[in-house]
Amino acid sequence: MPISLRPISNGSITTLVDNSVDALLGNRGPVRRAPIAAAPPVAASLMVEGAVPDLFVAEHGFSALLTLELDDSTHQVLFDTGVSESGMVENMRRLGLNPKDVEAVVLSHGHFDHTMGLHGFARAVGGRRALPLTLHPDAWLRRRLSVQGRDPLPLPALSAPAVRAAGFEVIEERQPSFLLGGALLITGEVDRTTNFERGFPPHQALRAGTWEPDPLIADDQAAVLNVKGRGLVVITGCGHAGVVNIVRHAQRLTGIDRVYAVIGGFHLTGGSIDRLIEPTAEALAAIRPDVLVPAHCTGAAGNAALAAAMPHAYVANSIGTRITLSAASTLDE
Ligand SMILES: [Fe+2]
Repeated sequence: MPISLRPISNGSITTLVDNSVDALLGNRGPVRRAPIAAAPPVAASLMVEGAVPDLFVAEHGFSALLTLELDDSTHQVLFDTGVSESGMVENMRRLGLNPKDVEAVVLSHGHFDHTMGLHGFARAVGGRRALPLTLHPDAWLRRRLSVQGRDPLPLPALSAPAVRAAGFEVIEERQPSFLLGGALLITGEVDRTTNFERGFPPHQALRAGTWEPDPLIADDQAAVLNVKGRGLVVITGCGHAGVVNIVRHAQRLTGIDRVYAVIGGFHLTGGSIDRLIEPTAEALAAIRPDVLVPAHCTGAAGNAALAAAMPHAYVANSIGTRITLSAASTLDE
């Protein structure tokens, strides 16, 4: 029995942190780019003018702001927070967004390129009590990457007591859950159903004092919206569960087949993961999303293949890019 995801008529998804930024990209239908001089200029003593535009700064991480119009009021939820302490809040400032307007935080998984920005965010909201933060309990695990012949590379982990002490009301959930009155679905653990998305082989987790293989990264989850007249919008963090698995999981959970947009990190770069590019592009093309916005860990080769497979839907992402969500949102406008 599918769960009911409340449709929305208006909303948007704004990229706050991504691996790349391109100040020259243009608008297209529902895709709106931030103006180059959106923020007040910054002083620059070596320049003739004494000031320069305050442009976005990219980093290896991901963060997006989900904005929903519900019952005549605006609601904002943060999905991931980027890899540096202040990168996300600084890009929010450049976009004229106030961290204090955020009602809840969702973490796609525990890797630090999605969680580190919690530091700057907690400071910016000034220790506001009981700000809901949703994650899968495995997001707390100590992790590392272990490649044969090399020293293991530790992946810094969040401290649960420190996160709670910073004012967050932690909601641990393995199952699907809702925010914003049933209009925002957090998938929880994603069913792995494709035969090619097999996780991240060098990934390990510390369980009961022992490092164990943890290729599936069970905490990897997505956010899902249902745009009236358009279908599902699926937002991924790093896509460790496999972006095709994630989209199909969202379809199964909601009973809605039509996919309007897929946005976020698809994890198609790095070593042998390249072999996923072709089957992923083929399977996503069969799902026929109207809008496809690969970001973060999708990589150059992944972006090229996805753009070639879905030229009508492909959108190059950049920090400050806002995808507006409404029944009228088509790329052909
Ligand atoms: Fe990531």
